[in-house]
Amino acid sequence: MSDNTTFQAPIGTHDVLGPESALWEGMVGTFAEFAYRYGFELVLTPLFEDVGVFNRGIGETSDVAKKEMYVFQDRGERTYALRPEGTASIVRAFVQHSPTTPWKAWYVTPAFRYERPQAGRYRQHHQLGVEVLGTDDPAVDVEVIALASRFYTALGLKSVRLLINSMGHDGCRGGYVELLQKHLTERAGQLCDEHQKTFAENPLRVLDCKKESCIDVTTRGPMLPDHLCDDCADHFSKVRAGLANLGIESEPNPRLVRGFDYYTRTTFEFVADALGSAQNAIGGGGRYDKLAEQLGGKPTSGIGFGSGIERLLLAREAEGVTTALINRTLDLFVIDTTGEDVATTLVDQLRQAGLAVDRAYDQRSMKAQMKVADKSGARLALLVGPQEHQAGEVTIRDLRSDNFEQAQQRVARDSVVDAVKQLLN
Ligand code: HAM
Repeated sequence: MSDNTTFQAPIGTHDVLGPESALWEGMVGTFAEFAYRYGFELVLTPLFEDVGVFNRGIGETSDVAKKEMYVFQDRGERTYALRPEGTASIVRAFVQHSPTTPWKAWYVTPAFRYERPQAGRYRQHHQLGVEVLGTDDPAVDVEVIALASRFYTALGLKSVRLLINSMGHDGCRGGYVELLQKHLTERAGQLCDEHQKTFAENPLRVLDCKKESCIDVTTRGPMLPDHLCDDCADHFSKVRAGLANLGIESEPNPRLVRGFDYYTRTTFEFVADALGSAQNAIGGGGRYDKLAEQLGGKPTSGIGFGSGIERLLLAREAEGVTTALINRTLDLFVIDTTGEDVATTLVDQLRQAGLAVDRAYDQRSMKAQMKVADKSGARLALLVGPQEHQAGEVTIRDLRSDNFEQAQQRVARDSVVDAVKQLLN
């Protein structure tokens, strides 16, 4: 008996087909171009890592490690996790290969988190990101944030705000965490159900909580930026001044501790005001000056950001941005009714000349092929029937013109590439 089950993409994931896929391609291409302009090299790492890379990297008390990671055992009984984010893998690769610093890596990757799926929140989402390892110069913080900001502008986004904070380094944060712990312990009963149970594990997580009760308690408590040591405060003010020098506005937000344990000093998030609060973070990042050590490497400063492709597309849609990021329309469609193999050689010649060309198959009628040509979005159709074939000619028709007479001309087969290029220009 045959099993007729049909399958769907798993919950919280999605297929991307044309024409939407052209936006993805354009977005990745634009980001690659920016990364190149800013001196970054593409780095590829495996989609899964030893689970320890993430547990140690993003922190076992983070929501992502605790509740959202896809952890599995392979057939050799090693415990791996699908990448929930890009940074830990890049830093693992840095520690493994010791490239010359500063090392500037960019990436595009799917990321897997077992979230409650909703608009802009998926179990497989896709990130564009950069990481710089080997310097704690505030100029790098400025450069990384500027790259993100300029990239969003290039995508046509206008209503994007940059929130910024400093988490300090181990020393100044340690003292602050003690104060926060005390404040929360005294008001534990007022926290949300989850944080009543878990705040002691990592009190900073409560600052990130979106529930009114936790916001209320933390608003009345100590704030991190007031407890920074002189060095961290100086670093933070240099980053803010550097951004201001480039004309990039930043809004200080003392709650911005972000969801992973690796952050130190600068943290930031870009928020698209056209989107609802559950999915308006279109990008975020920060410094992680201890992460390389946590993953077994030498002390090495680092900073980077990741940006969700789906969220960027949603933000463009919400702002009504319709500009294409890449041209993916066909130049030509070849219609061959000779009953011979003319189309095969013609499309090969045109494609070798750099043109985007498609054709019909299966020896269909002229009418049927014309229909496909119209649907294809191509600018021009090239028609070769028995007559043209015998005369060594091709008919070129402008598919966007209503005037049939003016819309077509016959040219010699030998000069077709030149004629087509002239018409396309
Ligand atoms: P993140 O804030 O968790 O940071 O994710 C970066 C971006 O990915 C978010 O701002 C959002 O646009 C998108 N994103 C995250 N989760 C989802 C989801 N479930 N569905 C759709 N989009 C999502 C990181 O991942 C850090 N690795 C960023 C970083 C790089 N920090 C330093 N370097």
